Amino acid sequence: MTRKVETVTVPFHVAAVGEEEAQAAAEVIRSGWLTMGLRTLEFERQFAAYVGARHAIAVASGTAALHLALEAADIKASDEVLVPVTTFTATGEVVCYMGAKPVLVDVQPGSMNLDCKDAARRITRRTRAIIPVHLAGVPCDMEEIHALASEYNLHVVEDAAHALPASYRGQRVGTLSETTAFSFYATKTLTTGEGGMLTTDDDKIAERVRIMRLHGIGRDAWKRYSNDGSWFYQVLAAGFKYNMTDIEAAIGLVQLGKCDELAAARQRIASRYFTTFSAVPALEVPASYSDRQSSWHLYVLRLHLEKLSINRDRFISELKDRGISTSVHFIPLHLHPFYQTAFGYREGEFPQAEAQYVRALSLPIYPTMTDVEIEAVIAAVSNVARTFLK
Ligand SMILES: Cc1ncc(COP(=O)(O)O)c(C=O)c1O
Repeated sequence: MTRKVETVTVPFHVAAVGEEEAQAAAEVIRSGWLTMGLRTLEFERQFAAYVGARHAIAVASGTAALHLALEAADIKASDEVLVPVTTFTATGEVVCYMGAKPVLVDVQPGSMNLDCKDAARRITRRTRAIIPVHLAGVPCDMEEIHALASEYNLHVVEDAAHALPASYRGQRVGTLSETTAFSFYATKTLTTGEGGMLTTDDDKIAERVRIMRLHGIGRDAWKRYSNDGSWFYQVLAAGFKYNMTDIEAAIGLVQLGKCDELAAARQRIASRYFTTFSAVPALEVPASYSDRQSSWHLYVLRLHLEKLSINRDRFISELKDRGISTSVHFIPLHLHPFYQTAFGYREGEFPQAEAQYVRALSLPIYPTMTDVEIEAVIAAVSNVARTFLK
């Protein structure tokens, strides 16, 4: 008699949301006040307290938070902004929103975060800002970045889309620079479906961002349809429609309450992956740093291709055949048609980013993963690495 072996399929991502989030969203819907309101303000207050920032301003997405940060820094069309080449296009596209040029910077081989030495080489008279991205949730070397920024008088806008909660030398990401942008997109460590948050300790920047996220209308614009608001408002600038809704904020409040617990669950999965994969010759586990705490938004495994008879793409399809979905973070920006045609970037210009890109894949890592699923990932990855070992 043959026994049928059940294959476990593991999706790349499942959001860690449940009944509590559904209830919180339903309450807002039943209340009749759906858009930005008291829940959004409460989410901002609790988020600011959680990361330890003076101001937290809730917006429609991480991209909106990055855009508003550059707007508050008064980036102009003739300016240049340093952006790591290994990131999601949002980091570069917001520079284009300002009419400015994203100057791409190569990455370090270990963390795949922006390489400060390469950034220094690319600084010109037009450089006004730098956007370090904490890739996968591992904080950048902020001391190095701040030293460069103060030497050349650059604004520092942190892209912390992956980095909640993460810390650098014991200090939470969100409190380290002029502005920090978080994302609450569906796959992120805290999700509201879509959403984002900008944090800053600077009162003037906070004031500007609050105005610009809601049409450039003066203070408390959101109240204009509420009982204690007034119908009268004044438009101070051509702002954006970037506010968060109370439905999203209600979900965010529940998620924030579980943030430490969710982070601990990711950390446990990362430790289990580390234990097995660090002993597999064809695999390189993510770099860790004693002065930084990762959020473990992503677990980026790298392949020692010289030890394997297959490439990364085939490794991914072999995992798929074994029921495991993976992803790649990220296709370096200069390899995309837009960055090539708009700014003349070419393949071969960012050797480190390219060398890491062809050997990187991201494994499933999310709090709702069961033991069976974690073991299935470990078994499949080990099996592919062993089967195709040269
Ligand atoms: C590094 C990075 N920056 C910015 C963003 C943009 O965030 P959002 O999707 O919330 O606009 C994302 C991802 O989604 C990202 O991965």
